[in-house]
Amino acid sequence: MSQISNKIAIIGSGKMGDTIISGLLASGIAKADQITASDPSAKRLDYIKTKHGVHVTTDNHSAVKAAQILIFCVKPQNAEGVFASVKESIESDDLVISIMAGVTLRKMEGWLPLGTSVIRVMPNTPSQVNAGMSAIARGSSVSDDQLSVTQRLFSSVGRTIVLDEKHFDAVTGLSASGPAFIYIVIEALADGGVKSGLPRETAIELAAQMTLGAAKMVLETGKHPAILKDDVTTPAGCTTDGILALEEGGVRVTLIKAVTEATRRAGELG
Ligand SMILES: NC(=O)c1ccc[n+]([C@@H]2O[C@H](COP(=O)([O-])OP(=O)(O)OC[C@H]3O[C@@H](n4cnc5c(N)ncnc54)[C@H](OP(=O)(O)O)[C@@H]3O)[C@@H](O)[C@H]2O)c1
Repeated sequence: MSQISNKIAIIGSGKMGDTIISGLLASGIAKADQITASDPSAKRLDYIKTKHGVHVTTDNHSAVKAAQILIFCVKPQNAEGVFASVKESIESDDLVISIMAGVTLRKMEGWLPLGTSVIRVMPNTPSQVNAGMSAIARGSSVSDDQLSVTQRLFSSVGRTIVLDEKHFDAVTGLSASGPAFIYIVIEALADGGVKSGLPRETAIELAAQMTLGAAKMVLETGKHPAILKDDVTTPAGCTTDGILALEEGGVRVTLIKAVTEATRRAGELG
């Protein structure tokens, strides 16, 4: 990926901040000396500096002043305080990107100087292994170039999609919370394998790689999941008996409710 010329500040160097820095460096879109990471914990910053070789600081102001792209990765409850404390250091042509769940563009634009370019991104934890899914929504002052650079930045940790912000609670409920649902599915499938006599480690490997393969089939063939399911289901074969058990257990309703409940909660947090 071709390198961008801007300097980047990561405000909040926890799990997601660390993940984003890893992706930026691994993809070559930014070099370590272009990135400044801030965090209140000197111990955390030691870890980040040792791992990535980026600049680090406990002072959000100096991180913001050193950069033109400011990626806010603090917890949502810290958002207003952090913006209030750094807004004097934000220049009119800086790009503010927030990955904070539930913190709306309207709120952020209200906390920042009029005309500040603000983009909201909802990534997920598989970004750690370059298989993330990031939804991107643009604020009212964002240029096409700023949107495009944001897509490039988050493409460094997986796929991106540009969406209207009204869908962000659903995105949070589906692709941000979803990995937790799928880990439970993988664990349960592996339990089934163990019950059928497979060693635990083998069962987990089979379940995880099969899940990865099924997801790739959906994305790469473009076929509807129902068609792909039919392809696996031989008349009077084994899969159809397994599907009957799944339907008896209410798997569809359960997963639909998992997503809608997480979406409802995302709306409450916002
Ligand atoms: N984890 C996910 O799956 C996920 C997915 C999508 C979006 N997000 C969003 O990403 C954001 C970060 O999540 P996370 O999982 O990375 O959380 P996290 O690991 O807790 O990281 C947040 C970091 O921000 C630091 N921090 C606190 N106050 C700060 C301040 N005033 N200035 C600078 N840094 C400060 C925290 O330090 P202390 O721990 O010392 O307070 C911590 O290191 C959240 O808003 C979350 O909604 C997370």
